[in-house]
Amino acid sequence: MRSSLLDVLICILLVKVSESEKITFENVTVLWRLNYKVEKTVATSENLKKIIPDEEQVSVKILGHVPILYEKSIFDVPNLKNLDLSNVCLEKIEPGAFGNLPLLEDLLLYGNNLTEIKTATFTNLNVSQVVLLSNSITLLEPGAFRNLKAVSVSLDNNKLTEFSSDVFENVTLGILGLALNRLHTIAPGALSAIGLTELNLFNNNFEEIDPEIFDMQELVSLDLDLNSIKLLRPGDLRNLPELKELWLVENQLEEIPEGVFNNTKLTKLDLSNNQIAKIASKAFEDIRELTLLRLDFNKITDWDNNWLSEAKSISEISISYNLITEIPDEVLKNYSNVTRIDFRGNKIRKISAQAFYKLQHIDHLNLANNEIDNWNPDLLGNVSIVSLDLRGNKLKCIKGDLETIFRNVQIVYLDKNPWEEECAKKIVEFQQKKKNRYPGGIVTN
Ligand SMILES: *[C@@H]1O[C@H](CO)[C@@H](O)[C@H](O)[C@H]1NC(C)=O
Ligand SMILES: *[C@@H]1O[C@H](CO)[C@@H](O)[C@H](O)[C@H]1NC(C)=O
Ligand SMILES: *[C@@H]1O[C@H](CO)[C@@H](O)[C@H](O)[C@H]1NC(C)=O
Ligand SMILES: *[C@@H]1O[C@H](CO)[C@@H](O)[C@H](O)[C@H]1NC(C)=O
Ligand SMILES: *[C@@H]1O[C@H](CO)[C@@H](O)[C@H](O)[C@H]1NC(C)=O
Ligand SMILES: *[C@@H]1O[C@H](CO)[C@@H](O)[C@H](O)[C@H]1NC(C)=O
Ligand SMILES: *[C@@H]1O[C@H](CO)[C@@H](O)[C@H](O)[C@H]1NC(C)=O
Ligand SMILES: *[C@@H]1O[C@H](CO)[C@@H](O)[C@H](O)[C@H]1NC(C)=O
Repeated sequence: MRSSLLDVLICILLVKVSESEKITFENVTVLWRLNYKVEKTVATSENLKKIIPDEEQVSVKILGHVPILYEKSIFDVPNLKNLDLSNVCLEKIEPGAFGNLPLLEDLLLYGNNLTEIKTATFTNLNVSQVVLLSNSITLLEPGAFRNLKAVSVSLDNNKLTEFSSDVFENVTLGILGLALNRLHTIAPGALSAIGLTELNLFNNNFEEIDPEIFDMQELVSLDLDLNSIKLLRPGDLRNLPELKELWLVENQLEEIPEGVFNNTKLTKLDLSNNQIAKIASKAFEDIRELTLLRLDFNKITDWDNNWLSEAKSISEISISYNLITEIPDEVLKNYSNVTRIDFRGNKIRKISAQAFYKLQHIDHLNLANNEIDNWNPDLLGNVSIVSLDLRGNKLKCIKGDLETIFRNVQIVYLDKNPWEEECAKKIVEFQQKKKNRYPGGIVTN
């Protein structure tokens, strides 16, 4: 705490001192690295070029305070490969500060005090990444990144409330991080023509997925966790033809209507931690390539066999902590590739005799913390299972020979059930045998 207060004070003092002169580097330590590590203290220098050696390639880290990057301060450095200007109390970058940096790959500017990025600041650069994480940026001027070509740009953890249409003028960019800002919208088209494949908008203030904004022909992954999205409409994803992963955890969804996911190529969909009570029967019908579906922590009362009737590749289904009371017949009949099923924390009392009919193998079947009070000895049939979790249910006994019933299960968790006395004895013996057979597995009682 004390040191950060001191930092603030030092930052403020230094800004006052160097504003009148045009010296960017003053009393800083410069580290650079090729095969060795060199440290040099610089009293004053206008340009990084004068400080660093003539090696073939150099990676440079500046320690100390650099309040302003003046025009041409990082200019004409043909051998600069990585530049780390993080945590140096940087408050301003003059347009033209960066230029002629043909080898530059990583430009790290995180943990500074930038509030604005002016027009033509990151211009004509061809780099791997520009990291502006954890500054205080509220404004990106038009053309701030003009002609930039980069694999990724991080603007995560800033204070952006707006994103105008020409910020990324003539930009080519694969991954954009805008998480932890205050964005409620983005200008339509602002992100459309730059070739984005991954967009992180985690923890912002979006209330809807507007297809005019979310119009990115190459986008593969979209993270909208922790926003305020209240509804999904048919066609919301129509301008994201390549989308494979959609994260919508912790929004305010109450319902999933039909047609939202039609014609998408989604493989992963996470709708956990919403208020979803209703999912249309055909809501997921058209997501043929889906492998992962998460619906944890919602208010779903019934499992609908039709939801995934065409999703033949599904491998992980998680619907824990909902209000489901029953697992119906042939619930997973059509999904030969399911390996993880998580029904934890529901109110399941009844499991239909043919619930797992036609499955061959499941890695993890989790039925813990439900209200199961009766276990049908034939329920698992010949399905082979690595781990079956039945903890925290209402089982008093399981009739029949446990060795036979769980013959194809490697690990069975059975504790926290109200076992009757003679049954408890049978279970302890069974658990002991299992433990001997699978010494690596944790078999508790
Ligand atoms: C840099 O160090 C010199 C000598 O110690 C001092 O006079 C000057 O004020 C310092 N400048 C800054 C910006 O701290
Ligand atoms: C500069 O940024 C650091 C890290 O984000 C912060 O702790 C500090 O308060 C800021 N200083 C000023 C002068 O804004
Ligand atoms: C940008 O850099 C990459 C990798 O260094 C290189 O392959 C590519 O040709 C460059 N593109 C332009 C337009 O300079
Ligand atoms: C767009 O940016 C590229 C570099 O990424 C550059 O070669 C080209 O000239 C720019 N086009 C315009 C119209 O400025
Ligand atoms: C979505 O797709 C399903 C299955 O192909 C189809 O029955 C339904 O009419 C479609 N709904 C909309 C709104 O496009
Ligand atoms: C299984 O797939 C068939 C053929 O695609 C379909 O008619 C049936 O409704 C599906 N059953 C379930 C339980 O999803
Ligand atoms: C099931 O998984 C196997 C192996 O990963 C794969 O070859 C097969 O295509 C999958 N089946 C379906 C219906 O996706
Ligand atoms: C389980 O396998 C045994 C032996 O292969 C077979 O006789 C039995 O019919 C199978 N049970 C089911 C429900 O498929």
